Amino acid sequence: MFQSFKTIEWKNDKVHLIDQRKLPLEESYVVCEDYQQIASAIKNMVVRGAPAIGVTAAMGVALGALGIDAKNFTDFFEKIEKICDVLDATRPTAVNLKWATERMKRFCQKNRHLPLSEIQQRLKMEAATILEEDIATNRQIGKWGAELLPPRATVLTHCNAGALATGGYGTALGIIYTAHEQGKIVEVFADETRPFLQGARLTAWELKKNHVPVRLITDNMAGFFMKKGGISCVVVGADRIAANGDVANKIGTYMVAVLAHRHDIPFYVAAPLSTIDIKTPDGPAIPIEERPIEEVINFGRQQVSPGDIKVSNPAFDVTPAELITAIVTEKGVVRAPFKENIQRIFDKKI
Ligand code: MRU
Repeated sequence: MFQSFKTIEWKNDKVHLIDQRKLPLEESYVVCEDYQQIASAIKNMVVRGAPAIGVTAAMGVALGALGIDAKNFTDFFEKIEKICDVLDATRPTAVNLKWATERMKRFCQKNRHLPLSEIQQRLKMEAATILEEDIATNRQIGKWGAELLPPRATVLTHCNAGALATGGYGTALGIIYTAHEQGKIVEVFADETRPFLQGARLTAWELKKNHVPVRLITDNMAGFFMKKGGISCVVVGADRIAANGDVANKIGTYMVAVLAHRHDIPFYVAAPLSTIDIKTPDGPAIPIEERPIEEVINFGRQQVSPGDIKVSNPAFDVTPAELITAIVTEKGVVRAPFKENIQRIFDKKI
């Protein structure tokens, strides 16, 4: 059976999150009892990865709603909006966060005729639906994406776009898991992903747990292995995809895309439609989160630089659409021209 852990779980009106800061050395869970704790868990990277952040935020809205004491719907909804503002402010790049809070707000409005206690219960159910849909979406992405991989594939991935980064199964790793079930995967090269080490700590951990052969490399080794030959393709996730197909993903993704292009290696992006932000026209319009400088100054807890120096820590970069071979969504595979074909995939009936 796939994976023996749950990334996000709603239990007895509390949200249990696997603590991703502690992996792979410790498998422990953070339990959130209110929306403020959810906001802090997202901000502090207990939970991370665009779809996982979205699911967690939806649960945050549901938890927040349970704590609201309101006179009428208008009063209730004002309080929901404030909760959503707090959650939205936690991380700026992953658009799934806002997608989820907007969906929860629309759900409230749709049910405004009901008693407030009923809306509170239904918001819990809606958050659970978002989680279930996310897992189903990833299975579908896995199915479409696995078709793109050649037999005996060696796949390079960057960051963690797996079960840990989603409600379950994963986007980029969802493709790898499906291809592995089909006997197509020879090996996965996992970039370590400095500075937060999502590749070394999380991708390596979950692939190993699911018996997928994995080889860990540092980020600066990707070019060496591509030049040597034997990398069939690159598969990564996304935090936000602009209307023109530009992709924001973990810092270093752009570098991998340029290298893949240089070596004529297909570069695939796996993401649900909730990661595509039609309102953002192109990559330069995507807000890029700047994270604490200590992540760069230190390696884990160990200081590895003088400390009193100028440091930058952008958490994401943008890969222009021209470097992307295809974007794999739950509705199918999108290729260039991306602007037109992204619109088409939204309109596609399934
Ligand atoms: O800073 P993080 O760990 O939240 O960044 C995660 C990534 O960049 C992932 O590659 C992306 O969210 C896709 S997750 C399915």
